[in-house]
Amino acid sequence: MHLDRDDEQTLAGEFGGTRQKMMEILVALGKVFGAEGLVPIRSAQVSGASYKTIGKYGLEWLSSLDAQVAVPTVLNPIGMDRERWREMGITKQFADRQAEVIAVYRRLGVRLECTCTPYYLFETGFGEHIAWSESSAVAYANSVLGARTNREGGPSALAAAIIGKTPYYGLHLVENRVPALVVELPEDVPLDSIAHYGALGHAVGKIAGNRIPCFRSIRPDRDRMKALGAAMAASGAVALFHVQGITPDARIFRYDLSGLERVTIEKEELLSIFHETPVEAVAIGCPHCSEAELAEIAGLLEGRHVNIPLFVFASRGVIGRSRSLIASIERSGARVFADTCMVVSPGLEQFSSIMVNSGKAYAYVPNMCGAVVRIGTTGECVEVAVSPPKAAG
Ligand code: F3S
Repeated sequence: MHLDRDDEQTLAGEFGGTRQKMMEILVALGKVFGAEGLVPIRSAQVSGASYKTIGKYGLEWLSSLDAQVAVPTVLNPIGMDRERWREMGITKQFADRQAEVIAVYRRLGVRLECTCTPYYLFETGFGEHIAWSESSAVAYANSVLGARTNREGGPSALAAAIIGKTPYYGLHLVENRVPALVVELPEDVPLDSIAHYGALGHAVGKIAGNRIPCFRSIRPDRDRMKALGAAMAASGAVALFHVQGITPDARIFRYDLSGLERVTIEKEELLSIFHETPVEAVAIGCPHCSEAELAEIAGLLEGRHVNIPLFVFASRGVIGRSRSLIASIERSGARVFADTCMVVSPGLEQFSSIMVNSGKAYAYVPNMCGAVVRIGTTGECVEVAVSPPKAAG
């Protein structure tokens, strides 16, 4: 693996123990995957930020680091809203540990934006090399933006952030970004909501595994592609997908799809995960909401009041730009939280059943929150939240 003089000096420990350790991580990864060298990156997004997922040992490891990130770096969602954690039912003990994690990242120079949608915070362009780790963000960056990132682990994304480079292999190389299977949908498949795209992603992810699917004859907008990619990354390990005529790589490279495996998703299969079961709470914002999604929720809640908890999750940056929408949503009794999400926060573990509009949350909530999960459209989620409680008996 080729290293330049600077890389070699870093590896030899000439720029401190932490940078040496980080370079060792990158070099080890590069050797395993046959990288020819390192490539400079424009940004990093680091998972392993919620105390719920990293625990005491993760915090100890982070605390041992002493360096500064070299590129704009943000965090994945943490276990609570940094300002409104009490409203989420988070214990003081958890909040204190989470605050320690945040303090360590601040010391490393990481921006305290804790989100799986960093693309709403800074521009990421076609062909840019980045090192992001949250799986839905990776799918969005590669597919919708045409940026280039592998699905990094927390430590490798942090190592790339500190060094400012990542091993040059996998999805950083154009030749590894060609589709491996074609997904076709009969005309009667309903694809008119984010939840339906989540359900489609849930079905395709299970078939695709870590292969690159190419969708034909669909025309999703960016929010729907966000839902599609997130779900495929959760039920499978899809880090890049193409939509013919829509996503940037597919428009530029015009892939030859003849001879590829073809998969057809039927209407019955897509709809099979929609069930009308009663729920105790509703959670929207997996991945974190865009301003357009917040506007839709605000419109649906206008003049209404929720009867069971309705949580909405978005990045602090998007919330800051959407103050009147947030006020409008919260007038209904719903709560909009920043920095965290339904899956990585212990706040939602108090509910035994949760309704979501996301294929990714549908896959993760049962294991991560220990709750029964129901999926529905954003409109159905709001209707369930505002419905009068059923009389007992
Ligand atoms: Fe984001 Fe949490 Fe979903 S990190 S993609 S909101 S599970």
